[in-house]
Amino acid sequence: SRPILIAPSILSADFARLGEEVRAIDEAGADYIHVDVMDGHFVPNITIGPAVVKALRPHTAKPFDVHLMISPVDPYLDAFAEAGADIITIHPEAGPHAHRTIQRIKALDKLAGVVLNPATPAKMLDYLIDMVDLVLVMSVNPGFGGQSFIDSQLRKIEAIRKLIDQTGRDIRLEVDGGITTKTAPRAIAAGADVLVAGTATFSGGPARYAANIAALRGH
Ligand code: DX5
Ligand code: ZN
Repeated sequence: SRPILIAPSILSADFARLGEEVRAIDEAGADYIHVDVMDGHFVPNITIGPAVVKALRPHTAKPFDVHLMISPVDPYLDAFAEAGADIITIHPEAGPHAHRTIQRIKALDKLAGVVLNPATPAKMLDYLIDMVDLVLVMSVNPGFGGQSFIDSQLRKIEAIRKLIDQTGRDIRLEVDGGITTKTAPRAIAAGADVLVAGTATFSGGPARYAANIAALRGH
């Protein structure tokens, strides 16, 4: 069976101590550091930009999994790449040229991800799957941590798992939103192999991070 990777979302961290928080989740066993970038336009919330990614870069060697919820996105790809992003994930709903955007991410020598909102069908991937390294299924509407998992997304994860297996390529299938010890096993059973978790990682404070991450992984 596939190894399950845990990607804590720093959206739920203490923003006044972000460097320490990133070190703590690294030591607690995080596989990726999930960075939620929001612009108050594509989604109804504003978070952080490339300057913060750059400031955090020396605090961990773990991959930065940068989830861009911004429109337009193309003008900011180079800045996130230079700031230290390893995986750059974009919403095809955020602009008319998802293919061009992914071409640019690959030209920057970064891993490219595509993320589907809850109402966006798996079919959106037909002409992108051959270019991407990661597919992210949103199991909440993007914008905020702490929302409830939308069950209908399990069917989409199952369909995308089949699509990925058909390609024979090494493509991660990530799920983001409402991941708990209850929903994680269901997402894994449907075919996900990377779990984003904000609330579930950071609840209880630093002393709990390692146990929280282990519980999500299932051991
Ligand atoms: C939502 C973000 C998620 C969010 C997950 O727009 O993309 O990464 O932080 O938070 P939880 O795990 O609390 O649902
Ligand atoms: Zn996210």
